[in-house]
Amino acid sequence: MKANIVILPGDGIGPEVTGAAVRVLEHIGKKQKHAFSFTSHLIGGISIDAHGVSLTDETLAACKTSDAVLLGAVGGPKWDNPLGKVRPEQGLLALRKGLALYANLRPVKTYPALLNASPLKPEFLHEVDMIVVRELTGGLYFGEPKGRKEIDGHVHAVDTLEYADYEIERIVELAFQLAGPRRKKVTSVDKANVLESSRLWRQITTEIGKKNSSIALEHMLVDTAAMRVITSPKLFDVIVTENMFGDILTDEASVLAGSMGMLPSASLGLKGPGVYEPIHGSAPDIAGKGIANPVGTILSAALLLRYSLKLEEEALAIEKAVESAIAAGCRTRDLGGELSTDAMRDEILSRL
Ligand code: IPM
Ligand code: MG
Repeated sequence: MKANIVILPGDGIGPEVTGAAVRVLEHIGKKQKHAFSFTSHLIGGISIDAHGVSLTDETLAACKTSDAVLLGAVGGPKWDNPLGKVRPEQGLLALRKGLALYANLRPVKTYPALLNASPLKPEFLHEVDMIVVRELTGGLYFGEPKGRKEIDGHVHAVDTLEYADYEIERIVELAFQLAGPRRKKVTSVDKANVLESSRLWRQITTEIGKKNSSIALEHMLVDTAAMRVITSPKLFDVIVTENMFGDILTDEASVLAGSMGMLPSASLGLKGPGVYEPIHGSAPDIAGKGIANPVGTILSAALLLRYSLKLEEEALAIEKAVESAIAAGCRTRDLGGELSTDAMRDEILSRL
């Protein structure tokens, strides 16, 4: 098959980890006779430096006409002025909104060989296999009004948490679809004891649950969920939740996997290209040293093959190669090992 893949390396370790993942995609493309082409564009701080904005219209247009987008990370201390008008993160949010990527899938599983890499007790970590479905284009990130105003000599800042029924329906329906071939359990996380938006979320989710009676639905308050993700992670199958709750819970859940460097994500719309990125950030402290863990990005490339290109076998092959490298003891520094980014990539390549 033919596919035009846009690479957005971004900032910090982004270029190193996307570089490794492109090599893996090239390898599998050659092996299975697919014609993958790659074009690279700027996003984040590096785009601010070059063009004054974190995402140009040209880059967004290139993404829109692509088959899929692989992204590294954005941000860094250089662009961290809280009062600055342009921020690297705006580019990421504009990309999500511009491509209408309402669903962010973040699978979290533990590898038997990495149970000791987590600060949590290994006995809690066996057989953890969950997927967090985070709503990505609504909620506090985008709600209006947003901004500052002065009232009676005091500065007020406001963000708005708003959801329309259709925004809740499409993300919850996707969660139910994902649960079907899995363990058939959906946990909907909200704060319905306090928030009106959560009460609408719970009402709509309950209705969708009735139409999908083969899937078990549970509702959980977000504070309880934050605790259970750590105390009984194996009880979760599919978690579905609004944008910011999902942002927070997925960083928390990444602790289960031993390192944030392990985890991939897929951001999907109803149609058009998806964006695939590791859940870790730009890690400016280790950028340019060649020691970042490329696994999260390589696994994101596997999700790209699965969801955007419908190449399930190729996706599985990458996931198996990663699993086998981890089982054989291959470790980057975040996992307590010595391997460089390129050495870890090569260990995975040699198992493909
Ligand atoms: C993430 C990140 C982003 C988010 C930031 C960089 C804007 O934390 O993808 O989880 O909050 O969505
Ligand atoms: Mg986050």
